[in-house]
Amino acid sequence: MRTLIVGVGGMTNGGKTTLSQSLNQQIPHSCIIAQDMYFKDDSVVPVDSNGFKQYDMLSALHMDKMMSHVNLWRKYPEAFLKDRSPTHTVEVYVLIVEGFLIFNYGPLNELLERRYFIEIPYDVCRTRRSLRVYTPPDPPGYFDGHVWPMHLKNRKEMESAVSGIVFLDGLQSKEELLAVVYKDVIKKIQEIKEKNVKE
Ligand SMILES: Nc1ncnc2c1ncn2[C@@H]1O[C@H](COP(=O)(O)OP(=O)(O)O)[C@@H](O)[C@H]1O
Ligand SMILES: [Mg+2]
Repeated sequence: MRTLIVGVGGMTNGGKTTLSQSLNQQIPHSCIIAQDMYFKDDSVVPVDSNGFKQYDMLSALHMDKMMSHVNLWRKYPEAFLKDRSPTHTVEVYVLIVEGFLIFNYGPLNELLERRYFIEIPYDVCRTRRSLRVYTPPDPPGYFDGHVWPMHLKNRKEMESAVSGIVFLDGLQSKEELLAVVYKDVIKKIQEIKEKNVKE
């Protein structure tokens, strides 16, 4: 059974979910595991001295649970597909892992065979975020008091620990971003198929 795991990381509101969903629609036998689904309950997320909930860090996430789902996919990728075609026709199963801290978690990062990181400038990030409604909603001052400083810290840690990241300009249109990543993933799928033919 041939599998490929790609990581779509990046800043909050960079366009990770948008890109991942488009990839999922275009890449056969693919599915998504999204890190946002693994946030711990609000009641157990601590606050800092300014009263800001400490959401933008790995400790706010059930990474163990996320890993168990990724590992389940690795074992039974066909079980994750909505449209179950007969297994003998599937050449490569693709898992898209998307989230803002996927490269910062070593055990997950090491499973990724492609790493994309969508970047946007501070002002665009702040504006896009202000237009979204989160659960729980961002309190006043949250972006500058927690989200942005944590982004800078997480990014620094990521850059010191992880190599092979393809940085993408999130100011490009959704279509442009999709075209670039789609082409790259299809190329990788092709390589996997060819490697298997030779073996
Ligand atoms: N390439 C893009 N150009 C302009 N706006 C975008 C682009 N990609 C996503 N968006 C918009 O930005 C917001 C955040 O997108 P989303 O995919 O949810 O980001 P993330 O999952 O990284 O937080 C949404 O309103 C979405 O429509
Ligand atoms: Mg998202």
